[in-house]
Amino acid sequence: GEPHVARRDGQLWMEGASLQALAREHGTPLFAYSRQWMLDALAAYQRGFAGRDALVCYAMKANSSLGILNVFAQAGCGFDIVSGGELERALAVGADPAKIIFSGVGKTRAEMRQALSASIGCFNVESEEELDVLNEVALAQGQRAKVSIRINPDVDPKTHPYISTGLKGNKFGIAHSRALHAYRHAASLPGLDVKGIDCHIGSQITETAPYLDAMERVLDLVESIEAAGIPLSHIDFGGGLGIDYNGDTPPAADDLWRQLLARLDARGFGDRKLIIEPGRSLVGNAGVCVTEVLFTKPGEDRNFCIVDAAMNDLPRPAMYQAFHRIEAVDANREGAPLRYDVVGPVCESGDWIGRDRDLNVRAGDLLAVLSAGAYCMSMASNYNTRNRAAEVLVGGEKATLIRKRETIADQLRSESVGD
Ligand code: LLP
Repeated sequence: GEPHVARRDGQLWMEGASLQALAREHGTPLFAYSRQWMLDALAAYQRGFAGRDALVCYAMKANSSLGILNVFAQAGCGFDIVSGGELERALAVGADPAKIIFSGVGKTRAEMRQALSASIGCFNVESEEELDVLNEVALAQGQRAKVSIRINPDVDPKTHPYISTGLKGNKFGIAHSRALHAYRHAASLPGLDVKGIDCHIGSQITETAPYLDAMERVLDLVESIEAAGIPLSHIDFGGGLGIDYNGDTPPAADDLWRQLLARLDARGFGDRKLIIEPGRSLVGNAGVCVTEVLFTKPGEDRNFCIVDAAMNDLPRPAMYQAFHRIEAVDANREGAPLRYDVVGPVCESGDWIGRDRDLNVRAGDLLAVLSAGAYCMSMASNYNTRNRAAEVLVGGEKATLIRKRETIADQLRSESVGD
């Protein structure tokens, strides 16, 4: 879907809340999220899965703020977690542990114990050594760990190399060619209960073909694993569906799943429980970051628009050369736009938010950085001892503060000068 902001009388609004009013009340930089956008995004998946045994496990790495998790927990979602910390967050919003799946290549023994004690639904295991360690940890607790094995289907998701995960050269999953061997091993371990199969091919995927290819590769494996006498009750297809950042045209979740389910049915696997792990497509365009222009600085080469948000708040441009649309919150200003590089206060040339943007702005104006719901706050840092931003959740005309702006006292609390 498209970003969830609309212009009325030249002003940007999110649902029934004016971004200008939100910024005045809570300060900047400020993240605002539309609850309705998230629920609509979830509904598209649910339409696609109508009549099926399917579970949407929100990949909370995309945005793990409690106020966001609460929306998805209330809507009946499960969660895809990648750390003991994320497990704590899911439990803090009352998530059903049976709907929690634990992904990631490097789970520690302590995290395994913690997840077993919470009775989570499934571990997505990513290596043969992890199978052995999880078996050991489960036996020591007198439990059996439910597992799927993440297999690497070796398909090209045609996305940025840093966020493609299902290629041979990636650290994720177990190679397709080793999968059967790994399943036999898993089935032989008394502390493991083999439940399913898992794959995730990458992120910000905007084409259907890589998903269809991955599905065929996964189903080939399901056939050979079951032929070896190991039944699989669920298939987890991971996440990865892209959003519209800059005119991108990913398939709609319901269309994508109609096509995938047709393949699944055609190959006789229509009865399997399905799990998916979408992150970005459930929150990405629900969010904006409102930031204030501190200074404009004309240059010989280029003009700079210096704003109060930076790479510590919005790390995607610096990390992936990602594009986020940037719009003036108030479009009523007279005069002609100038071409700017929009940059933050952090002391790095890599601290840019947008390049070559035509904006009609002056110091004190507000800008909205769009598509900032996913992988922004959850990747935010304190670099340059900057406080992490505040967050509000918008529902109709109401905006609820779901994260107070961090303070320097918060940051210094766990430090000491030493001896
Ligand atoms: N499942 C697994 C195992 C994953 O590794 C990921 C994302 C997801 C699900 C959710 O993928 P999504 O539906 O959000 O595409 N920081 C990067 C994206 C990293 C994605 C990591 N894995 C960015 O800002 O583009």
